[in-house]
Amino acid sequence: MSRLSLSTRFTLILSGVFLVGITIGGFAYWRALQQRAQEEIASQGLLLIETMNAVRGYTTQHVRPLLVDDLSTSPEFISETVPAFSARTVFENFRGQEDFSTYLYKEAALNPTNPKDKADDFESDLLSQLSVENANAEISGFRNLDEGNLFYIARPLKIGNESCLTCHSTPDQAPASLIATYGDQGGFGWQLGQVIAVQIIYVPAREVFNAAIRSFTLVMGVFIITFALVILLINSLLKRYVIQPVYVLSGLADKISADENFATELESAALQSITKRSDELGSLAQVFRKMAADISARTGMLKNQVNQLIIKIDELRRHQQVADVVESEFFNDLQKRARELRNKEQGSGGKENKPADTE
Ligand code: HEC
Repeated sequence: MSRLSLSTRFTLILSGVFLVGITIGGFAYWRALQQRAQEEIASQGLLLIETMNAVRGYTTQHVRPLLVDDLSTSPEFISETVPAFSARTVFENFRGQEDFSTYLYKEAALNPTNPKDKADDFESDLLSQLSVENANAEISGFRNLDEGNLFYIARPLKIGNESCLTCHSTPDQAPASLIATYGDQGGFGWQLGQVIAVQIIYVPAREVFNAAIRSFTLVMGVFIITFALVILLINSLLKRYVIQPVYVLSGLADKISADENFATELESAALQSITKRSDELGSLAQVFRKMAADISARTGMLKNQVNQLIIKIDELRRHQQVADVVESEFFNDLQKRARELRNKEQGSGGKENKPADTE
């Protein structure tokens, strides 16, 4: 890490923060999207199931009373008097539209009047859960069928009206035309208040989840691109405002420490532009430039003084040498003269002294 450049380090740290952020944020966002998608599907399912109940109610309250007399006499069974029939027919019309072709609606019973309504294992299981007293009035979840992954909402269907029993109690009480059409096997023996079927609606989950995936990808994409741009921007700003000026200053410092001539650097446009800045690096550069100028002046002065000293020393040395020479010749001369003098003195003085010795 210590060998990495400042910008690489920045990039790495920012990328790390970004990665952690996007992982946590992405996870939370994905969960929220899924939650919302599920809620959306659930509300669709609820809306449809309530609509079907409204259709059932309409049949019981408005259609059946008009036709009830005909029903007992008519040789043909009048399906329009049956709430389950009207609900199914309305739903088939609804499914006829392309967008809703994968939606399913079923009133699934263990012992149905119409064999098409026979509950499969899954639905039987739901029915037994919903038949329990005080059970939750609604079960929802996901189920894989040929139509794809479907979200379902299941509700118990009760015999809530005496009128139901005219067709669903015993075969002899039911209209003859009903027995002729459906037989006397299924859909009988039901009692008032009994849960006899599970009303279940299947809503395709794929579309809604695809929409969730699309918005997730879009938001994450925008997020990632924005962050990449931010990292690039920070990097280039860092280079321009911090690293480049530091290079200039460290180049100058290098020259100073190597005792090279840095007069051109001191006047360079690069350094000028940094010192003009009002931020921290600007004041650092100002101090640095002043310091460099001081060093330059002081070095110049020192060099001057040293030069003067050298000149003085040279002068002294020259004097010394001259003096040496002069002194030594003088000395030689003196010596020579002294010897000569001594010789002379010996020559004449001896003769003068000798007579005294000989006398
Ligand atoms: C006029 C006779 C009649 C009346 C009244 C009637 N039903 Fe039915 N019911 C039928 C027939 C016939 C079917 C089969 C319809 C079909 O082809 O799907 C049926 C189907 C059903 C089904 C679907 C399961 C199955 O057996 O196929 C349920 C649940 C049901 N009826 C509940 C009720 C309830 C609750 C009421 C009272 C509100 C009621 N019915 C009133 C005749 C009747």
